Amino acid sequence: MSQHPALVEHVITREQIQTRVRELGAQISADYAGRQIKLTCVLKGGFIFLADLIREITIPCSIDFMVISSYGTGTQSSGVVRILKDLDGPIEDLDVIVVEDIVDSGLTLSYLLRNLKTRKPATLEVCSLLAKPARLENDVTCRYVGFEIPDTFVVGYGLDAAEQFRELPDIWSVDETKL
Ligand code: IMP
Repeated sequence: MSQHPALVEHVITREQIQTRVRELGAQISADYAGRQIKLTCVLKGGFIFLADLIREITIPCSIDFMVISSYGTGTQSSGVVRILKDLDGPIEDLDVIVVEDIVDSGLTLSYLLRNLKTRKPATLEVCSLLAKPARLENDVTCRYVGFEIPDTFVVGYGLDAAEQFRELPDIWSVDETKL
């Protein structure tokens, strides 16, 4: 495809992603050795990350999906989170890892973790491909983070801007005025 004018520059290349996802998979496999994990993927943005991550994990794991909406049409978190699709099954007594695309303000994740904790998992951790520490508005912690990035809106590798660009293999910064 010819390059869309809104795509500014590569922030993370597919090679860097591949290397880091491999490291995360190895780390999770070591940390949870001898156990089984439930990967809880937050859709839509987390779908490519989950698909790559699960193939780098060498211990038994199962998956489930949630669809939540945190933004309306804009790019600022409203703090109002709605569950559009809940998990298919209970997570009581399970070792759960929430697989997220990006933690921006942290409002979405904070809501999600509070919600999931009430279901009494044995353990509950977060693996996010990206984090923007400069924008974090609360003390939500991710045990596993792929890359910390500056305060810029990014797309690709599952992340979108108004449903565009999820298919890009690399992660790009975008000029939101040119979308
Ligand atoms: P938060 O509640 O501000 O942490 O926002 C989390 C959600 O906002 C993520 O799961 C994404 O769906 C979306 N989001 C935040 N920053 C970006 C970005 O730079 N690109 C694409 N989506 C983003």
